[in-house]
Amino acid sequence: MALERIFVAGAGQMGSGIAQVAAQAGYQVVLRDVTADLVNKGLGAIGRFLARSVEKGKLAPEEREAILGRITGTVDLTPAAEADLVIEAVVENLAVKRDLFTQLDGRCPPGTILASNTSSLPITELAAATGRPDRFIGMHFMNPVPLMQLVEIIRGIATSDQTYREVEAVATRMGKTPVEVRDGPGFVSNRVLIPMVNEAIFCLQEGMATAEGIDTVMKLGMNHPLGPLALADLIGLDTVLSILDVLYTEFQDSKYRACPLLRKMVRAGWLGRKTGRGFYTYQ
Ligand SMILES: NC(=O)c1ccc[n+]([C@@H]2O[C@H](COP(=O)([O-])OP(=O)(O)OC[C@H]3O[C@@H](n4cnc5c(N)ncnc54)[C@H](O)[C@@H]3O)[C@@H](O)[C@H]2O)c1
Repeated sequence: MALERIFVAGAGQMGSGIAQVAAQAGYQVVLRDVTADLVNKGLGAIGRFLARSVEKGKLAPEEREAILGRITGTVDLTPAAEADLVIEAVVENLAVKRDLFTQLDGRCPPGTILASNTSSLPITELAAATGRPDRFIGMHFMNPVPLMQLVEIIRGIATSDQTYREVEAVATRMGKTPVEVRDGPGFVSNRVLIPMVNEAIFCLQEGMATAEGIDTVMKLGMNHPLGPLALADLIGLDTVLSILDVLYTEFQDSKYRACPLLRKMVRAGWLGRKTGRGFYTYQ
């Protein structure tokens, strides 16, 4: 049977982006967060993105309405039972995700695919929180989801070929380019990216240059569209720290130790764009 209904758990920056691209691809989508305010914030972000697309002439007004009409917000987990695919995009915390997947596993029929958008946590370990490791997979979208082409698809130790093929087809229908990656800390994207971001934070801590200076070096010198500190603010400093801690713990290698300045900023609640303050300040 064709996969048509997608349940997205977590309506933050990634979950709302995933819900948007799924609805744009014609899927029926349910977007869930823990409070109505958070759900509405996610739906609001989607509405604003699509309104800007209409203003720019990239999207017809009636298409915007049709896309929004395919997304339902909820604080309830129950509708996950109706979904063919669940994509989890809640906070980067192993205990929170495992608990959620155990609950989802209990509610969804055996055929439902459970996917995690985790940035770094082991897919095999998340899968083990369910009774369906063969129907479990990593679907790692990039931020901002509507604009970024890549989806890393991560197979856990027990992920079936059938599950892989179905999820690859979903990513392709969403207009993304899937790349198959083995399960390992940070996968490929964050194993390469996040140590570079961490090194930029060490440069700032050591006073090598200002934040603007460091970002300009990487933009003009390496042709990066965004400097590493601005990128960290976009990703969320809490998420960057969580990924570093996973790399450090999993590899047992000091080269992945998080810069103390990063940890201090997270403790202060300076998480980047989402809180209005990180390496830069935001309105
Ligand atoms: N930020 C990035 O650049 C990026 C990129 C790729 C993947 N990711 C991953 O995506 C996930 C989400 O990151 P984000 O940046 O969207 O974070 P975010 O802080 O913007 O959103 C997380 C959301 O999850 C919600 N939540 C927490 N527990 C929940 C539950 N039990 N059920 C439903 N919702 C719950 C929170 O209320 C919050 O709204 C993380 O695993 C992160 O590592 C992030």
